[in-house]
Amino acid sequence: MKAQCISHCLLGMTLILYSVHTHSLRRCLISVDMRLIEKSFHEIKRALQNKDTFQNVTILSTLQSLKTIKPIDVCCVTKNLLTFYKDRVFKDHQELSPQILRNISNIANSFLYMQRALQQCQGQRWCQCSQEAINATRIVHDNYNQLEVRSAALKSLGELDIFLAWIDKNHQETSAT
Ligand SMILES: *[C@@H]1O[C@H](CO)[C@@H](O)[C@H](O)[C@H]1NC(C)=O
Ligand SMILES: *[C@@H]1O[C@H](CO)[C@@H](O)[C@H](O)[C@H]1NC(C)=O
Ligand SMILES: *[C@@H]1O[C@H](CO)[C@@H](O)[C@H](O)[C@H]1NC(C)=O
Repeated sequence: MKAQCISHCLLGMTLILYSVHTHSLRRCLISVDMRLIEKSFHEIKRALQNKDTFQNVTILSTLQSLKTIKPIDVCCVTKNLLTFYKDRVFKDHQELSPQILRNISNIANSFLYMQRALQQCQGQRWCQCSQEAINATRIVHDNYNQLEVRSAALKSLGELDIFLAWIDKNHQETSAT
């Protein structure tokens, strides 16, 4: 009986920690206007995706199998992917069209803002990375490394809708609790 109670209590604690965690993530990103980012992306989506010649591979494959990422890992994966876009994709991409470039800059600025919001509000304590989250991030980098750098950057930009939808979904889920 006693052992059963202990496991129940532990489960309860874990659930409380999960909900505190997701609530704090929601609060961290609540000031970010996702529609603005989505609007910028919508303007350039066609142009980017039409130039992508490797339709048979995906970079953000781990996000498409959403169920593998647990709520507790949402903060870590979001943070890691923002860094991935900031440090690799936006730097590696070469854009000739000034209009597209301005839209990409808008998205990049919003990502920087989101990253700061996460850093300030989470602290390290609420944004720990499990082995699964580390693996999920590594797969994204591995996929990226498999392509020539320009193609990889272009494809990752074209896949921003996957990442944005994923952030949106996790917002909504946490908003509902
Ligand atoms: C994807 O397509 C490209 C070009 O058509 C080809 O070179 C590459 O081998 C393909 N990759 C896979 C994983 O099928
Ligand atoms: C975004 O792209 C669209 C389509 O190319 C363009 O009309 C618009 O001016 C761009 N927005 C900015 C802020 O440059
Ligand atoms: C992470 O990846 C390593 C190496 O591929 C694997 O051995 C390990 O089981 C994975 N861990 C999790 C939790 O997915």
